[in-house]
Amino acid sequence: MTDRIDPALPKAELHLHLEGAAPPAFIRALAREKSIDIHKIFDESGGYAYRDFWHFLEVYEAACTTLQGPEDLRRLTLAVLEDRAEDGVVYAETFLSPDFCGGGDLAAWREYLHAIREAAEQAERTMGITLRGCITAIRHFGPEKSRRTALCAAETVGDFITGFGIAGDEKAGHPRDFTWAFDCAREAGLRLTAHAGEWGGPESVRATLDHLKVERIGHGVRAIEDLALVERLAEDRVVLEVCPGSNVALGVYPSFARHPVARLRDREVVVTLSTDDPPFFHTTLRREYDALAAAFGWTEDDFRAINADAMRAAFCDEATRERLLKTIEGRA
Ligand code: ADE
Ligand code: ZN
Repeated sequence: MTDRIDPALPKAELHLHLEGAAPPAFIRALAREKSIDIHKIFDESGGYAYRDFWHFLEVYEAACTTLQGPEDLRRLTLAVLEDRAEDGVVYAETFLSPDFCGGGDLAAWREYLHAIREAAEQAERTMGITLRGCITAIRHFGPEKSRRTALCAAETVGDFITGFGIAGDEKAGHPRDFTWAFDCAREAGLRLTAHAGEWGGPESVRATLDHLKVERIGHGVRAIEDLALVERLAEDRVVLEVCPGSNVALGVYPSFARHPVARLRDREVVVTLSTDDPPFFHTTLRREYDALAAAFGWTEDDFRAINADAMRAAFCDEATRERLLKTIEGRA
């Protein structure tokens, strides 16, 4: 496919899982170094192989078994940021899971975080990309683990760790099971987002807003099935972190043309665009933009406006926001 949208357009990406952004060759090399047999998670062309969302989660967790120390996370962060910078991303937020970085132990998490942060600072100096971290609990690991994750977040909140969220199997448990974790994170000064409305319907989005009091929703796209909820999202300026290519690859929607992102935007919901786990879905933001331009006729001005909305919704300090808004709006 030829580029429809200038590939160099400065981009802000709010919904990106660090482990989910690991190139398969990177994970294969780690597996080889450590003699871990995970050949089953790759297809014959070397990409990640999964049958459906639940199998995707298993493959994802198998890939994470190769990440065994801070040095692995340092290398991963650099590799991921190199790819994002190449994609034109100037600001990214990444979900970080203490569960995959020391098993939720605070002392171990601090060491992993130190390495991730050093890599982020190196990437900012050498590639001009700014990163912030959003600690995420894994829903199907249960409420008890989410509390430990929230404590890791509360203990490491600062100018790099700015957000808290939850990912994983939306069908596991109920948002009310995670209120302690979200209350803890909020009280520590973290800003909040949660995956909902991807595999659950509008009731899942409502319950997430009511119980977890988040300002952003990861995906949220199935809100389109309830127009009163769509109105609430628009009125309350709840920001959706929409990942169309992820939804198409995992079978939430059959194609970009059938994806509700344009209908949500037409109804004045604040939508932002991200890739979620790009190598799993064979995507990049450039590919997302080109596919959306083809499906809905969106132009460079649309993407510039969406990126400005993402930057306004970013979990970062005001000086960073203003600096990058200038870049995104072409005022720099
Ligand atoms: N973790 C990584 N990608 C995810 C997704 N699309 N939904 C829920 N949890 C995830
Ligand atoms: Zn996600």
